[in-house]
Amino acid sequence: MARLVLPYFSFIVFLLLMCIATQPGTGTTHSDEVKALLDIAEQLGKKDWNTNVDPCINESSWLTPKLDSRPLYDNSLFCNCSYPDGVCHVVALILKGQDLGGVLPRSLVNLSYLTYLDLNRNFLSGNIPHEWASTKLEFLSLSVNNLSGPIPSFLGNITTLRNLTIESNLFSGTVPHELGNLVNLESLVLNANNLTGELPVALTNLTKLKLLRISSNNFTGRMPDFFRSWKLLQKLEIQASGFEGPIPSSISILSNLTELRISDLVGEGSKFSNLSSMKGMNRLMLKSCNITGSIPSYISDMKEIQILDLSFNRLEGSVPDLSGLEKLQFMYLTSNLLNGPIPEWIKDSGNRLQLDLSYNSFSESYDPACGDSFKNLFKSSSGRDNLILGECLKNVPCSKDRYSMHINCGGNAITIGNITYEADKDLGGSARYFHENENWGFSGTGHFWDLDTTLYDYIANNVSILTMNESELYTSARLSPLSFTYYARCLAKGTYKVKLHFAEIVIRDNRSFYSLGRRIFDIYVQEKLVWKDFDIDSSAIGVDKAVVKEHKANVTDNVLMIRFYWAGKGTTAAPKRGTYGPLISAISVESDFIPPHDGKKKISIVVLIGAAVVVLLLIFMILGILWWKGCLGGRSSRENGLKELDLQTGFFTYRQIKAATNNFNAANKIGEGGFGSVFKGILLDGTVIAVKQLSPKSKQGSREFVNEIGMISGLQHPNLVRLYGCCIEGKHLLLIYEYMENNSVAHTLFGPADGRLKLDWPARQKICVGIARGLAFLHEESTLKVVHRDIKTTNVLLDRDLNPKISDFGLAKLNEEENTHISTRIAGTIGYMAPEYALRGYLTDKADVFSFGVVALEIVAGKNNMKYQPNENFVCLLDKAIVLQQKGNLMELVDPELGSEFSKKEVIRMIKVALLCTNPSPAPRPTMTAVVSMLEGGTVVDELNIDPSIYGNNEWRFEGLRNQLGKSPQPSSRESQSLAQSSNATWMCSSTSV
Ligand SMILES: *[C@@H]1O[C@H](CO)[C@@H](O)[C@H](O)[C@H]1NC(C)=O
Ligand SMILES: *[C@@H]1O[C@H](CO)[C@@H](O)[C@H](O)[C@H]1NC(C)=O
Repeated sequence: MARLVLPYFSFIVFLLLMCIATQPGTGTTHSDEVKALLDIAEQLGKKDWNTNVDPCINESSWLTPKLDSRPLYDNSLFCNCSYPDGVCHVVALILKGQDLGGVLPRSLVNLSYLTYLDLNRNFLSGNIPHEWASTKLEFLSLSVNNLSGPIPSFLGNITTLRNLTIESNLFSGTVPHELGNLVNLESLVLNANNLTGELPVALTNLTKLKLLRISSNNFTGRMPDFFRSWKLLQKLEIQASGFEGPIPSSISILSNLTELRISDLVGEGSKFSNLSSMKGMNRLMLKSCNITGSIPSYISDMKEIQILDLSFNRLEGSVPDLSGLEKLQFMYLTSNLLNGPIPEWIKDSGNRLQLDLSYNSFSESYDPACGDSFKNLFKSSSGRDNLILGECLKNVPCSKDRYSMHINCGGNAITIGNITYEADKDLGGSARYFHENENWGFSGTGHFWDLDTTLYDYIANNVSILTMNESELYTSARLSPLSFTYYARCLAKGTYKVKLHFAEIVIRDNRSFYSLGRRIFDIYVQEKLVWKDFDIDSSAIGVDKAVVKEHKANVTDNVLMIRFYWAGKGTTAAPKRGTYGPLISAISVESDFIPPHDGKKKISIVVLIGAAVVVLLLIFMILGILWWKGCLGGRSSRENGLKELDLQTGFFTYRQIKAATNNFNAANKIGEGGFGSVFKGILLDGTVIAVKQLSPKSKQGSREFVNEIGMISGLQHPNLVRLYGCCIEGKHLLLIYEYMENNSVAHTLFGPADGRLKLDWPARQKICVGIARGLAFLHEESTLKVVHRDIKTTNVLLDRDLNPKISDFGLAKLNEEENTHISTRIAGTIGYMAPEYALRGYLTDKADVFSFGVVALEIVAGKNNMKYQPNENFVCLLDKAIVLQQKGNLMELVDPELGSEFSKKEVIRMIKVALLCTNPSPAPRPTMTAVVSMLEGGTVVDELNIDPSIYGNNEWRFEGLRNQLGKSPQPSSRESQSLAQSSNATWMCSSTSV
C-alpha cells in the first residue's frame, strides 16, 4: 500500500482518511500510540475517552459524539491505516471548545505520525513542552487558552509547520528569532498576547507566508519593513500591535493582498500608502493610522472591495467616485477632515452601501432620511453652528432647558427611585444616526469583523442572573465594534456629573474559555479622552458586577457627548469570534448645580386661567382616550403585551420592514406559505431577512399571540430557521426570519431542472440528519415541547452551505386555542400527514416522525410522494417503497440523478429508517433522537420493527385503520371495501378526505 501523504489539511482529506480508517480488515492502532493517547488524555484533563476500544478502528465510540448545541465544540481523532506497516496511526487530533483544564501534553511526541493538532478554546495553562520540538506537526492551533510565558525558541525546530496559531493567550516576551527557521510556514497568527520588543529580522525567511496576524500586542519600534520578503501575503492584520507608523512604503509590493487591516498606529503621520497594485483587495482597513492628504482615486479600481474603513485619520479633500464598486457594502470615513460638498454619487447610492461620514468637515449638511437610512451623517459638516448635530435636528429647536439625561442603554425604560432611565431599544447598526427625541440620541459606527453581521450584534443581553443593586440597568447593554457616541441636547450651560454604568455580561469568569476574553476600550467625554484602555472586568473585579465611572464635564453649547471607542486592544475571538468593543449598560447625566425653580413668584390670574384651561383640556383628553380605547382596544393591548414581553429577539417597526422589503414590492416576494406571503428584505445593517406576513384574522387574544411568539423565538437550534423578531403594528402582523439562500428542499429536489442545484448523496444525507436533529430538538430537547405538524420538503429550507433548517415551527399553535392531544383543526399537508392525525386529529410528536419518514423517502428518491406518477402497482412513493422492501429491491427507489455516486450502506439505512418512521401506528415509530442515532450509524436500524407483511395485506390495512378509528361504527361490507381502498391511500399517502 502506498504511503498516504497529507499535502493540505483540507477536510476532504480527513474525511477520506476517516473512510480508510474505518474500513474493516485494516490493522489496529499501534500500541505505543494507544498508550500515548491515554497519557495525553490525562495531561489535558480529558476524561471522556472510551479507552476500552481501539481508537482507530472505532473512532465513533472512542469519542463522544459531536454535539450540535455547542457550536465551538469538536472532538475528533483521525487515523491513517494505509501505511506499509499494516497498523493504524493517529494523524490528527481535534479537541476544541471543551474547556480542558490541564496542560499541553508532553506525550504528544509519541504520536509520531501526528501532523494536525487543534486544541483551540480550552482552558489549558503552562507553556509548550520542549518534547514537541521533535514532532512532525504541520498544523498547530492553541488559540484561546490560558498559555503563558515566552514563545519557546524550540518551536523553530518543527520545520514541518505550515500553520501556527497561538491567538488569545498570555504569551509574553519577544518573538524568538528561531521562528525564522519555519520556512514552510504559510500562516502565522499571534494576535492578542502580551508580546513585546521588535520582530526578529529572521522572520524575513518566511517567504511562503500568506497570512500574518499580529494584532493587539505590545511590540515596540517602527513597523518592520519586511514586506519585500513576504511577497505572497494575502492577508495581513496589524491592529493595535504597539508598532509605530508610518506604514513602510514597501507595502506596495504586496500585490496579492486581499485583506489588509492596519489600525491604531502611534507615531508620526504619513500620506496614504501606495496600494494601487492590490487589484484583488476585498477588505481594506487603514484606521487611526494618522494618514494625511486625500483618498487616492485608484481605490475605484479595487473591483472586489466589500469593506473600506479609513476612519480616524486626517484625510482631507473630497471622496473619490466609488460608484463603480459594485461589491462595496460598508464604508467608514468617520472622523476625518473630508470637505467640500457631499458627492452626488453618495446621495444616489441608495441602500446598497452603508456609509458612515460622521465627524467630518463637509461644507454641506445633508441627511437623506434623518436616521432611518444606511448613512450616518452625524456631525459630518463643518457648519459654524455646533448645535447642528446633523440635518435632522436643525429644525428641532429645544423646547426648554434640560438639566439631566438618563438612558438604559440597549434596554427598556426603568424607574429607580425618582429617576427614570429612558428606553434605548433601537437596534443600532453599522452606520446609524438615531435621535430619540429633542434631547438625546446616538451615532453608531462599525461592524464586527470576521462575523456574519446580524441585527443582534449591537445589543448584549445578560446570560446569567444578576444580583447587583439596580440590576435592571445591567441586563442589557449596548455594544459597539468601533465607535459609539451618545449625545444629550438642550442642556443648560454649566457643569454636569456624568455617571457611566458598566458590567461585563458577555465574558464569563468560570474555568472555561468563556472567561478568556479581554474587553478593552477608550472613553471620551466632550471629545476628551477620559479613560484609556478601560477594562470592565478588572475595574469591577469580576464579571456580572457593576462599576460606575464618574466624570465632571462642562457644557457650554447645550450639547454633551460621550463617545466609546475600540482601539484594537484586547481579544477579538474569545470566547467567540467577534467578542470585543465597548459595552455600556446605562448613562446618567445630572447637573452639578441646582436647577433654577422657575415661576414661583409669577403666580397670577393669568396662571389661574391657564390652570382652568388645562383642566378642560384634561377632560377632553380623558374622553378622547376612552374613545380611542373603545375603538382600538385590540391594537393597544396587543402592543402593550409586546412591550411587556421580553423577547429573545427584536422588535421591528413597520416602517423598518417596509423599507427593508421595498414597500413589500412584488419583486421581493419569495413565497406564499400556509400562513401568508413571504418577502425578502435587507435591513439597514445589511442583514438579509425573510418577512412572513401573517393574516391578521387570528382568533387568538393578542396577549397569547405575543406569548407564543416569545416562546417560538426562544427555540434556537442550528437546524431551525432563526426567528429574528416580529412587528405588530395595527393590523400588521409580521414575523422576521433569517434569510435562507438556497430556498427549500422541495425547490431543490423537485424544482424546474434548469438552474436548480444538484444535491449529491453526502448533501442529502446531511439534510436528512439535520432535519432529524431539528425535530429531535423540538420534541425532546427544547424547554418548550413542540409538535411541528407540517413537516414537508417545502418547510425545510437550505442555507448557503446547504444546511437544512426547519421553518414554520410553532406556527400551527398560533392558530389554535386549545393545547390538547386532540387537535381541533388539522394543520397538515396531504401526502405527509400521519394517519391517526389525518383521520382523528390525534396529535403527538409521532405525527412529525411519520412526516419525516415521507420526507426522507423523497430525498432518497428525488420524487414527491404525491406527485409521484401512480400506476397499477403503487399509489404513491411510500407505497412503492413498501412494495420494493418486500421484493428486497430497495435500490430501485434511489434517484437516478445520483448515478452510482452514493454510499449504498447509507441509502439502505435511510430507506429503512424512513419505513420505520412511516409505520401506520404511532407507537412503533422511533423517537427522533433514535432516528438521528440510526442515520448516523450509531444504532443499528431495528429491522424487526419492519414487518413487511403488515403492509401487504389489505385485510390488515382495513383492520388497522378500524382499530385506529376506535369506536366508529362498523361499516357495511360495501363501505368497508371502499374504506379499505381509501385507507390504503389514506395512511400510506395521506390523501385525506377528512
Ligand atoms: C532544536 O534543534 C537544535 C538544532 O538541531 C538542537 O540543538 C536542539 O536541541 C533542538 N531543541 C530541542 C528542544 O529539541
Ligand atoms: C493554513 O494556512 C493557509 C494560508 O493562510 C490556508 O490557506 C489554509 O487553509 C490553512 N490550513 C488550515 C488547515 O487551516
